[in-house]
Amino acid sequence: MAAFPQLRLRRLRRTERLRALVRENRVDAGDLVYPIFVVEGKGIKQEISSMPSIFRFSPDQLDAEIEEVAGLKIPAVLLFGIPKQKDELGSSAYAPQGVVQQAVRRIKKSAPQLLVITDVCLCEYTSHGHCGVVVGDQIDNDQTLPLLAKTALSHAEAGTDIVAPSDMMDGRVKAIRESLDKDGFQQIPILSYAAKYASAFYGPFREAAESAPQFGDRRSYQMDPPNIREALREIEQDINEGADIVMVKPALAYLDVIRQARNAFNYPLAAYNVSGEYAMVKAAVKQGWLEERRAVMEILTAIKRAGADIIISYHAKDVARWLQSA
Ligand code: PBG
Repeated sequence: MAAFPQLRLRRLRRTERLRALVRENRVDAGDLVYPIFVVEGKGIKQEISSMPSIFRFSPDQLDAEIEEVAGLKIPAVLLFGIPKQKDELGSSAYAPQGVVQQAVRRIKKSAPQLLVITDVCLCEYTSHGHCGVVVGDQIDNDQTLPLLAKTALSHAEAGTDIVAPSDMMDGRVKAIRESLDKDGFQQIPILSYAAKYASAFYGPFREAAESAPQFGDRRSYQMDPPNIREALREIEQDINEGADIVMVKPALAYLDVIRQARNAFNYPLAAYNVSGEYAMVKAAVKQGWLEERRAVMEILTAIKRAGADIIISYHAKDVARWLQSA
């Protein structure tokens, strides 16, 4: 075995050509998913204060944004809806003319090649802000399942390409798969937010989506951050129920979970670089404390290195632009 001075690991770091030749991981625009917030109404394009450069769009204002994303060769968008009406059962989530349903139709018309993924959850649509049906002070798992299934089905009817349940109810992948199959949508894949933690890093998203719980928190359904074996059981459960792609969320504080999931399952794996992770970088960049491009590329490459195939990120447009100019 070679040892110093014959062995010199610096030899392969001497020039960019050499470094590129032995580079183990790369982020590609084709790995990225760009989240978009759509708000019910007309003529709205409104920046989210805790997420600079990220906007809420009404469906009629989406075309330019969609054209930009498609032009950057980002393969997919992930849609979140903010409805006008919220109620106890989140009925705007599964309304045929709901805001996400309208946005899906519009996007599939303007950019048919762009994949549309729709977030399936009730929290943006319920008056109490929880991801399921509230009974007393509890979130009722089994009463929530048919509503999620109805939501996913209405997204499929509007033309979505992939449905992505993010609610963390037990059995929701099975309920959604059965309802899609029964109505002729056997070809629509399910991307499940399989290991989704109860995280402080969703803070800015809740401002963006107006989805903060009005009482209590999400810890009775989202996962406890210290656990990793449980994350593998969550992923296993969703795979057994029919998930086609599984997700770990958030990404940065959970790179170990991504790595273990990659080692344990031969399924496509997504990671969600969430709103708080984006906001931290943006805030530091604004102060002049971080170099944005290098910091963002390092973060996304780390998520890839941990084992993610697909990265959902608010930085996606910037990254795709940088990759084009590199
Ligand atoms: C809805 C949902 C949330 C996120 C994605 N889907 C918020 C939550 O669970 O409170 C968070 C995304 C982000 O922070 O970027 N259930």
